[in-house]
Amino acid sequence: MKLLTLDSADLTGKKVFLRVDYNVVNNGEVTDEFRVRSSLPTIEYLLEKDCSIILASHNGRPDGKVVDSMSLRPVAKLLPKLLNRDVIFVDNCVGSEVENEAKYLRTGDILLLENLRFHKGEEDNDKNFAKNLADLAEWYIDDAFAAVHRAHASIVGIPKLLPHAAGLLLEREYNTLSELMKTPAKPYTAVIGGAKISDKIEVLNELLKHVNALLIGGAMANTFLAALGNNMQASLVEKDSFADAKKIISAAKRRKVRLLLPSDVVVALDIDGKKGLRTTKVDQLRPKEIALDLGPSTMDSFNEVIAGSKTVFWNGTLGRAEVANFAKASESLAHAMISSDAKTIIGGGDTAAYIDNVGLHSHFSFVSTGGGASLELLSGKKLPGIEVLMKK
Ligand code: 3PG
Repeated sequence: MKLLTLDSADLTGKKVFLRVDYNVVNNGEVTDEFRVRSSLPTIEYLLEKDCSIILASHNGRPDGKVVDSMSLRPVAKLLPKLLNRDVIFVDNCVGSEVENEAKYLRTGDILLLENLRFHKGEEDNDKNFAKNLADLAEWYIDDAFAAVHRAHASIVGIPKLLPHAAGLLLEREYNTLSELMKTPAKPYTAVIGGAKISDKIEVLNELLKHVNALLIGGAMANTFLAALGNNMQASLVEKDSFADAKKIISAAKRRKVRLLLPSDVVVALDIDGKKGLRTTKVDQLRPKEIALDLGPSTMDSFNEVIAGSKTVFWNGTLGRAEVANFAKASESLAHAMISSDAKTIIGGGDTAAYIDNVGLHSHFSFVSTGGGASLELLSGKKLPGIEVLMKK
C-alpha cells in the first residue's frame, strides 16, 4: 500500500481543509515554533495551487470544553509573520460563523479554526462532527504527523467524506521513519533515553530487529542497571519493569545487537544538582544519591559507537537536560551525531525540543515533529491517521 500524496491530488483552485498539529500553545504562548514552521511548506504549496485553506488543529487536552488558555489564537498571531499574509481566525471550528467565513474564502485566503478539542466530537470521532468539518471544504489534506496515532474525527472521520492526501510534512515523516524499519544504512544505532521503560518497551523490542547497537540512557537506564543488581539508591527506578529490562538484555544477546548501558553516572542529592554533585561508577552510588545524567566514560563509549555508525536514531534525552549540570551527556551525544558521517534522525518530543533549544536543529538529517506518533510508528504499529491515507 502506498500513501496518497499531494502530487496525485488535483488541488488547483480548491478549498482545502488542512489538518495541522499546532499542539504548541501553553498558557497563551506558542512554546514550539518548530511545529508551526514545519507546516509552512504544505501551506505554501497549496497557495501556489491557488487554493483557499482552512487550517485546523487540536491543542492540549481540554476534554470537550472551551479552555481559554488552550485557544489557538496565539498561533493566529504568529502565522501572518511567518507567511507574510493575513490569517483569519474564528473562535470556533463548527457553527454558522465558521460556515460563513469558509463559504466566502477566496483564492489565497487562510482561515484558522479554533481548537478542535473544544468539542467532544473530535476525540469521540463523532460522525456528525466530522461531517460539519468536511462540509467546509472540497479536499482534505493531513499534515498533522504528530497526531496520526489518534483516531479522532479530524484525522480519520473527514477523509472518509472528502478526497484526501498526505501533506508534505506527513509524507516526509512517514518515509523517513519507515525507512528505518526497511533498509537503513548499516551499522544502525539507536539511542533511547527518557524516564520510563514502560513507555518504550514496544519500540525497544521493534528496534532490536533492525539495529546493530542499542544505547540506553536517561532515567530508563537506572531500571536496567538496578535489574542487573546495581543499587541505584534514590534514583528513579521502575521495579515493575525489571523483567522487561532483562528480556530486552536477553533479546539483544540473541539478536547479536550490541547493547550499551551506562558505566558511570552524574549524581546529586537533589534533582536540581545543588547538593552533592559528583560523578561515580554505577555500582558505587551512596545512600540518597540520585543518578541524573550519564558520566564521561559512558559518553566516550557511546560516542565511539556513534562515530562508526551510518544511521543513528535518537529518542529521549540522556539526563535531566532541563538542568544545565545534567544536560552534558545529551550535548555530547548531539555533537557526536553531528560530527559523524551518519544519517541522523531525532524522534520528536522532548528530544526535538532539547535540540531546538540548543540551536542544533539544522545540523541533523531529520528532526521529527511527532513524539508519541514517531515512537508508535517505529514500534511497527499501524497508525489510524496513516492507514486512512493509503491508496486502496
Ligand atoms: C503530540 O503533541 O504528541 C500530539 O499533538 C498528540 O497530542 P495528544 O497526546 O494530546 O493526543
